[in-house]
Amino acid sequence: MSGWSTRLTGIGQLVTCDPSAGDGSPLGVIPDAALVLDGSKVAWVGRAVDAPDADEQVDLGGRTVIPGFVDSHAHLVFDGDRADEFAARMAGQAYTAGGIRSTMLATRAAADEVLHARAARLVAEMLRSGTTTVEIKSGYGLTVIDEARSLAVARALTDETTYLGAHVVPPEFADDRDGYLALLTGPMLDACAPHARWVDVFCDRGAFDADEARAVLLAGRARGLLLRLHGNQLEAGPGVQLAVELGAASVDHCTYVTDADIEALAGSSTVATLLPGAEFSTRAPYPQARRLLDAGVTVALASDCNPGSSYTTNLPFCIAVAVRDMGMTPAEAVWSATAGGAQALLRDDVGVLRVDARADLAVLEAPSYVHLAYRPGVPLVTAVWRGGHPT
Ligand code: NIG
Ligand code: FE
Repeated sequence: MSGWSTRLTGIGQLVTCDPSAGDGSPLGVIPDAALVLDGSKVAWVGRAVDAPDADEQVDLGGRTVIPGFVDSHAHLVFDGDRADEFAARMAGQAYTAGGIRSTMLATRAAADEVLHARAARLVAEMLRSGTTTVEIKSGYGLTVIDEARSLAVARALTDETTYLGAHVVPPEFADDRDGYLALLTGPMLDACAPHARWVDVFCDRGAFDADEARAVLLAGRARGLLLRLHGNQLEAGPGVQLAVELGAASVDHCTYVTDADIEALAGSSTVATLLPGAEFSTRAPYPQARRLLDAGVTVALASDCNPGSSYTTNLPFCIAVAVRDMGMTPAEAVWSATAGGAQALLRDDVGVLRVDARADLAVLEAPSYVHLAYRPGVPLVTAVWRGGHPT
């Protein structure tokens, strides 16, 4: 042991997401388990009877432990509120990409401190429901300065930051799409790349077409950014195929996919990230997770937390919907919200509890992980460790 070590005992069920552990399933479940955390990392995993000593002991009283959730898709830097738009949708109005512009106006008008405080509050809310890693996008500034300061806010809260200047074309460029493309791939990218790990584009009806999206992603790649994209949310468009063509880490939404899209994903390393909070809040059909999984596609689940289409931070809620309405088993849904999210971010140190992984975990007031779907809406996460420390 090199740092301060903590032994967690009394774990009735431990979900490791390490297929070489426990029952050998993708969730790697170990009953009557213990964990030893050393500094910020996991130092030992196994049956409680075999656990080595540590500086400090914590007895979890038979509760379930899972890796902290990895929320690989969230838009947390914004100001304003769109509750009226949500209420109108519930009364029958359709969701369109155009609502993004109302959040854009509020975001441009907000001070950095306001944007930071709001985003930090959402990250804290995520932590309380078990999320220990979060990706945060820009995309509500849509000017050089507002995108760059959005990313600076995001960077203060996470390493997984994403440049999404290509969210929609802002109104001042409505008659000059080429001008906005030049900004996105030139000065805006220059200002944003130092704060970003990823580049994203909303390739869909009312946002960007395939050629525009390709240009944005390739410009980002040339600046050293990694690729992900929003695709196939509003219709069966070109997003999935483009993501696969460019080897993006993830294509997110996948609400409307064709057989050819599924075949392309299955033969690729691109993760399909499903965001059921968006279908819940827009009354769109849920993505067909079962079709994707049966074809061999790797699926992640994320919140898409944003003020327009999915204002939830809660991955247990997304898991419950995925199990109830998208044909996922509880085991698949929990894997997708932990190890799947990690894969969508090209991370192997989170979303898993094995030696040398980050000591990020959530304790559930439940005898098994199945309760995440079986007890919808119940705050089962009673404690969270992040980087080896209780939060
Ligand atoms: O992922 N699809 C594009 N962007 C967000 C919605 C943004 C908004 O409506 O403000 C999403 O759902
Ligand atoms: Fe999104």
